[in-house]
Amino acid sequence: MALYLVTGAAGFIGAALAAALVREGHEVVGADNLSTGFRENVPAGVRFFYGDCGLPDLYNGLLPARPYDAVFHVAGQSSGEISFDDPVYDLRANTASTLRLLRFALDNGCTRFIYAGSMSVYGVQPDAPVREEAPCRPESFYGVSKLASERYLRLHEQYGMRFTSLRLFNVYGPGQNMANMRQGMVSIFMSMMLENGYIHVKGSPDRYRDFVYIDDVVRAFTACPERRESEGRILNIGGSGRVTVGTLVDKLTALSPTPVSVEYAGGTPGDVYGIYADISLARACLGYVPQVGPDEGLARMYAALTARRSA
Ligand SMILES: NC(=O)c1ccc[n+]([C@@H]2O[C@H](COP(=O)([O-])OP(=O)(O)OC[C@H]3O[C@@H](n4cnc5c(N)ncnc54)[C@H](O)[C@@H]3O)[C@@H](O)[C@H]2O)c1
Repeated sequence: MALYLVTGAAGFIGAALAAALVREGHEVVGADNLSTGFRENVPAGVRFFYGDCGLPDLYNGLLPARPYDAVFHVAGQSSGEISFDDPVYDLRANTASTLRLLRFALDNGCTRFIYAGSMSVYGVQPDAPVREEAPCRPESFYGVSKLASERYLRLHEQYGMRFTSLRLFNVYGPGQNMANMRQGMVSIFMSMMLENGYIHVKGSPDRYRDFVYIDDVVRAFTACPERRESEGRILNIGGSGRVTVGTLVDKLTALSPTPVSVEYAGGTPGDVYGIYADISLARACLGYVPQVGPDEGLARMYAALTARRSA
């Protein structure tokens, strides 16, 4: 039984990851500042600490009786759009948090660190599957903060830290925060559809993304400690390949038993036109193969939400 620290354990991805690690029989410590997460999301069996990974106060509580076998750093301000509101906060939540946590891990005998990176580091890229060695030109404060974190991870290899950064593409699925209308394309559209029978798309239907289902993301994270080939690696974690926003909207509206009106207008700061992943390196280093395609994933999410609403 391993001992793991999961930050962001009250958020969408961190809670799903912590639950999977508990199910696998591991001992899990969770931390979160509850800025966008919810205490009730923290899975049963997780020893939870409230606090901000970018500030020193949290860390006394996290001191382990024996070294953590790995730290999963999932906490962060997770919206490109919101990073424009307060870039200094974004720097603390996404970069200072990584640096502090890295030092904390090393000071306490942990040399395995798995990071929730982001496709937002790439910025504008040609219309082809993006590979990890593509030049990074982030277009948002969020993207810069995620890229800077990866650079800190790489710098800490000289102290013996073995890191993996999973560059997540558009993650979606049950457990996503349906009230946050500024983070998560799928959750925003599905929420508008369920609440109002209407979807407002900020930008063109021809834009494209790579949608990855939460269970596939969790499988990628949990594979990391077992796969030495993933150490020192930055790995793309996509799911659907190239899917246009228009196709996503069509798939969503097809799930609704009642008509849904759709409007395309406006835009989002820092949003790139299109991006999708080449996942061959994750396949080679992690054995990562996405299991849940967009039709099945969206149907599962819709079913989970409608069941909850009618309960
Ligand atoms: N959801 C996606 O599509 C996506 C894509 C790429 C990368 N990511 C990354 O994955 C991670 C998790 O994203 P999510 O979708 O679960 O978002 P989320 O907002 O649901 O979860 C983030 C959690 O981290 C907590 N948090 C934020 N800043 C913190 C801090 N400084 N200290 C402690 N806790 C803090 C929040 O309260 C929240 O519970 C983030 O780092 C995000 O950048 C997400």
